[in-house]
Amino acid sequence: MPDVTLLNIGRTIRVPDGETILSAALAEGIDYPHGCKSGRCGICKSRRASGDVDLLDHSRFALTPAERDAGLILACRAVPKGSASVAWLEDEDTARHPVRSIEAEVVGTELLTHDILRLRLKGGSPPLQFAPGQYATLELPGETSRDYSMANAPGAEVVEFHVRRVPGGRTSGAIHDRLQTGDRVWLTGPRGAANLRAGHTGPILAVAGGSGLAPILSILESAVAQGMRQPIRVYIGGRDERDLYGLDRLARLAAQHGDMTVTPVLSAPSAPTDRRTGFLHTVVHADLQAFDGWKCYTAGPPAMIDALTEVVLARGLQREDLHADVFFTPTTAPRSVEIAAAD
Ligand SMILES: Cc1cc2nc3c(=O)[nH]c(=O)nc-3n(C[C@H](O)[C@H](O)[C@H](O)COP(=O)(O)OP(=O)(O)OC[C@H]3O[C@@H](n4cnc5c(N)ncnc54)[C@H](O)[C@@H]3O)c2cc1C
Ligand code: FES
Repeated sequence: MPDVTLLNIGRTIRVPDGETILSAALAEGIDYPHGCKSGRCGICKSRRASGDVDLLDHSRFALTPAERDAGLILACRAVPKGSASVAWLEDEDTARHPVRSIEAEVVGTELLTHDILRLRLKGGSPPLQFAPGQYATLELPGETSRDYSMANAPGAEVVEFHVRRVPGGRTSGAIHDRLQTGDRVWLTGPRGAANLRAGHTGPILAVAGGSGLAPILSILESAVAQGMRQPIRVYIGGRDERDLYGLDRLARLAAQHGDMTVTPVLSAPSAPTDRRTGFLHTVVHADLQAFDGWKCYTAGPPAMIDALTEVVLARGLQREDLHADVFFTPTTAPRSVEIAAAD
């Protein structure tokens, strides 16, 4: 079992054989910066100061070959081969609320679409604190815990989540079928670093696929409440009309803000429609030419995030200005490349 020293906090942890540095750190209760846990978002990017690691499959946007050659790794994909030391890259903008586990009571459930449920939870003293765009791990008795993004602005007593029923999905199915007002669940968080950067003054692109609208709503509500007045372009996607939700809430925010546009996009409409059609990334590509100085917040399925990432980076968005939450159930990919110490 290799020892890995986390230089940011001066702590050494034991990483069980075959496990990643991130999973071992999280199991120790360490607030290691991370988002997707699958090598897609780049939030866990770290500098390898010493030691060798196997780096599991990852997207080239999360870690470019040049970054890899320069000694950077993704903690969520790095399986140490022996003792090592690493430091995550500090992001001054990243909000740092302490991770807590709180027991919360279900105070409401409501279908927003045929397969997306709004779940409202109340609990904790004080209630869960988080930055807009972050997520928490939800645990129901007898079920595997899963991550869900907060869907309202921080500071309220009640925290809202939007849970899509994944076909055959264990936990999302249990949330839809079993949870009722008065039930109790556990929430652990906040987690993630795809949160609103309130100091940013350039334009904002916000792109949500399906229940990916949850963190985007939290971000937009907070941006408007905090008086951020730069142009905001919002794109939300679903297959058909019945998959869209939140349009009234977005329309109210747009009216309050003054320079926010909201573009719903249908990828597979079953009837003629006045909406934009196609994939989210193709519509963004058609509408917006350059992203120099922008920030992009996005959440949704992995394929959508990958395609959008390609478009926005090709059009000038800086990698550090892309803040993505990839909705999926983490797995450990079997394929890996070996990263050897340079020294
Ligand atoms: C950082 C983060 C934030 C998230 N936030 C949200 C959120 O706000 N709302 C939300 O609805 N979900 C969110 N998710 C996804 C959520 O955590 C679960 O992955 C999802 O609910 C499926 O869990 P399950 O137990 O129902 O399905 P599982 O039993 O894990 O999976 C069943 C089958 O479905 C496949 N599958 C798993 N996830 C998906 C998916 N998302 N789409 C299609 N197929 C899938 C699996 O490969 C498997 O074959 C988030 C994920 C992450 C990592
Ligand atoms: S790339 Fe590691 S958490 Fe996303």
